Amino acid sequence: MKKIYRFLLIVPSLFVLIACGSEKSVDRETFKEIQKATEIKKVNEAELLEFTMKWGDQISGEAQTALIETLQKAIAENGAAGAVEFCHAEALPITQKVADKHQVVVKRVSLKNRNPANAPSEMEKSLLEAYAYNTEQGEANQPNIQKLEDGEVLLYTKAIVIPGGLCLQCHGDPNTEIEAATLAKINEKYPGDKATGYKAGELRGMWSIAIPRKEAIRNM
Ligand code: HEC
Repeated sequence: MKKIYRFLLIVPSLFVLIACGSEKSVDRETFKEIQKATEIKKVNEAELLEFTMKWGDQISGEAQTALIETLQKAIAENGAAGAVEFCHAEALPITQKVADKHQVVVKRVSLKNRNPANAPSEMEKSLLEAYAYNTEQGEANQPNIQKLEDGEVLLYTKAIVIPGGLCLQCHGDPNTEIEAATLAKINEKYPGDKATGYKAGELRGMWSIAIPRKEAIRNM
């Protein structure tokens, strides 16, 4: 960002110098500075990946906070069954809003997805399998970046693990943890639901954020 602003500020002043036809020759230092500022933004690959990792953390964090706040409010106001209805209508629009704000694609995907729209692509499937394996081995999962489309898109992913109680009301054991009314609502809204039977500590899915390289560079 900083560099772009400098570019915008210095270029017009160059025009002024030329347009006014000033007799005074521009000193060497000023010229050097102008040249430096007008150079196309060159970014090294390691810096780009480091930035994308931080930015992906930030975007997934924002989407997660928005979802959890809405979920908790919906449960408090309408109970878990009512909240299922609310999630059905609001979960995707909430993540879409965060995506639009940052000009990226934000998804939550799972090997056992509830909403068919949250099924993983082939690439996402292999990342989910790797995260699931680590989780089963008791190893912590680190976020990951994969290059897609010849590196034009950077795919940031981050594991979503079931922390405990709250989630099990709708993703736990259908006989003991999910209330009958909630289960009925889940089956009504999601006839092909695969997202029950989870235990605390298990991998539930992952954030998948496709960041165009140019958007990352623009925001650096
Ligand atoms: C009130 C019930 C409810 C609770 C509680 C709940 N979820 Fe969900 N969850 C849903 C519904 C409904 C969907 C499908 C949303 C949609 O249509 O996009 C869903 C979808 C998801 C997805 C997207 C993948 C998929 O299966 O479609 C993830 C990941 C997820 N939930 C994780 C969690 C986690 C982690 C918690 C606990 C912090 C949690 N959920 C708590 C109802 C719930």
